[in-house]
Order: sequence, then structure tokens, then C-alpha cells
Amino acid sequence: MKLQDLGPANLQAANTLALTCMAEHYYRLEQAENAAEAMAAILQQHPHTQPQLLAGGSNVVLPQRLELVIQPAMAGIRYLGEQKGCHHYRVLAATEWDALVRHTVDRGHGGLENLALIPGHCGAAPVQNIGAYGVELGEYIHAIEGVELPTCTPFRHTREEAGFAYRDSRYKQEAGRWLITALELALPTRWQPRIDYPGLQQALAGQEPSPGRILQAVIAERRRKLPDPAETPNAGSFFKNPVVDEYHMRLLLAKHPNLPHWPSEAGHKLSAAWLIEQAGWKGKALGPAGVSSQHALVLVNHGGATADDILRLAEAIRQAVQDRFGVPLEIEPRCLA
Ligand code: EPU
Repeated sequence: MKLQDLGPANLQAANTLALTCMAEHYYRLEQAENAAEAMAAILQQHPHTQPQLLAGGSNVVLPQRLELVIQPAMAGIRYLGEQKGCHHYRVLAATEWDALVRHTVDRGHGGLENLALIPGHCGAAPVQNIGAYGVELGEYIHAIEGVELPTCTPFRHTREEAGFAYRDSRYKQEAGRWLITALELALPTRWQPRIDYPGLQQALAGQEPSPGRILQAVIAERRRKLPDPAETPNAGSFFKNPVVDEYHMRLLLAKHPNLPHWPSEAGHKLSAAWLIEQAGWKGKALGPAGVSSQHALVLVNHGGATADDILRLAEAIRQAVQDRFGVPLEIEPRCLA
């Protein structure tokens, strides 16, 4: 097995916030089949260092230096056929998420279309249980495969074992323990359009919804609302939408009747973007780190920002929203240290 230490390596091009990060030791895993052996070999060479796992770099805040970085590099999509009313797909970790969405929709297999254009790799998608326009990845997961660390034992989890919640999973809760190498997805053969999100309903008004049409509407909506990381480095939503109970919801609405909110499993979900905009931070900057003028939930790197710059800005926003509304915001991307 050939394992090459590619470090020291600058990971600036490997994270969508374009933060400079020097990885002292940097390995890419090329094959899912021997990932456990490869991990064991790497950990044997670096017995005292906790490895950091990196996927597409679209939902992480990287520090200026990391000792040991491991990145799955295996890509590919395979249709496994129909089983119990679902189309099954196996996809390797480093496949671009959006490529999988388009591949399945092109084959006429709907389900993932609401999740079009989300940046990042398939292997990282379950970690934060990516979601958009009323759909979350978790509902389409059949199994998740990989290597448990530090024992380097292969695992295969069911959807139930993955612990999915809003922008959360056991892979996020137990960061560093699970290296994901492949996903198996199950897309129901009896497709149902999911177009409750108002923007989608408007875009499709008068048309018979199809996976392809929804895909196009989602792409148009995202291009209109969210800054493109290729042009303006960013990591998507930087905060989760906070959830409050009935009592606090009423208190908030008494003072702020226009506050956008919607029901969620645990209470009422509030729009973090609205809170941030009202707190005066939309389009503002603190040094080289800024808040997108397109969408208040997205923090951007205006050039040369470090993790400290981004986190200083995030803290200022969190404090301003806390002071004005009494609502705590939680950071969404993973901060590696
Ligand atoms: N809003 C503002 N100011 C803004 C932007 C939005 O007040 O600058 C208000 C809008 O008027 C709307 C509300 O905020 O009432 C919600 O906005 P939007 O529909 O854009 O969705 P979001 O709740 O801000 C979430 C996800 C996005 C996902 C969209 C669409 C989270 C943390 N974010 O954003 O996910 O694309 O819904 O479903 O749940 C991501 O995770 O990186 C991401 C972009």
C-alpha cells in the first residue's frame, strides 16, 4: 500500500473560506476498500497525534496550523438497483455532493433535488446532516460506512444509528471518531415533490413539479440568495437557526412581531439571518472578515482572514444578537483546533 505524506501542505485551496492553514503532515486516502489498513499505517507513524479529518472543506474553520490532516479522496457513484420501493445508490466519500444530486435527478430518480448546489463532499454531508428548502439528507440515508478511530475498525451504521437531527449527527457530536468512506442512499421510487418553501412554490407556480424542475428552481434560488464560495470565500450558514420554546416565542413576538419563525420538533425555529440583520451586522466587517451583504447568515473572507478573524466576528455577532434579543446563536461549521 503506497501512503505518501504530502505535508507540509497549505490547505487554503482545500477550504471554501480560503483560510491559510499549514498541515505539517497531510495524507489522502485513495481507496475505500483498504481505508482501515491505511489509517492504521498512518496512525502508527504518528502515534501521539490526533488526526484531523478533512472532506470538501466547505463547513470548517481551519486554524493556521494543523499537525496531521487526513482527507478521503475516493470518488464514484454506483446504482445498486431497486430494493423495497427505493432506488439504492452507493457513493464514495470524495464525490462532490452536487454531482450526486444531478446524477440521480438525470436518471429520473427524485429525492435529492432540494439539496442541489450545496458545496462539499458526500462523505461530509451526514456530519452536519445537510438540509435546504424543507429537506434534510438524513431521511434518504440507508447506511454509512467507514473506519472507527483510533481502533481503525470498519463500521457500517444504519440511519437510526447515525443520530440525525437539525444540522447535527453522531459524526458531529463524536468528531474525530468516525472516518466516513461511503454512503448508501435510498430514494423512494414513488417520488413526492417537496415544495412547501415559499420561494419554490412561487418559482414553480402553474407548472407540474418534477425533480428536474425543482432542481432548476433550487439552483436559481441559491444563486440569487447565497454568495458563491468560488467568488467570495465562505462556509455557507455560519450559525444554526435557534430554537426557542413557546414561552420565549410569545415574549419575542410581543416585542418583534415581524420575526420570521416556523414550528420545529423542539419548539419554534427562528431566522438567525433576520436576527443578525436586525442587530445591524448584515454587510458589515471586522478586519478582513465580514458578513455577506447578500445573506446575513453567511460570513465571508474579504482576503487574508484567519480563523481568529472569523471567530472574532462571529463572537461580536453572537453578542449583539444576545444583547438585543436574548437569543443565543450557535456556530454551525466545525472549528478545528
Ligand atoms: N433573512 C433575513 N436577512 C437575510 C437573509 C434572510 O432577514 O439576510 C430572512 C428571510 O427573509 C427569511 C428567513 O430569514 O424570512 C429565512 O431565510 P432563508 O430562506 O434564506 O433560510 P435560512 O433559514 O436563513 C436555511 C439554511 C440554509 C438553506 C436555507 C434554505 C440553516 C442554518 N441554514 O437558511 O442552509 O439553504 O435555509 O432552506 O438552517 C447552509 O447550511 O450553509 C445553508 C445555506
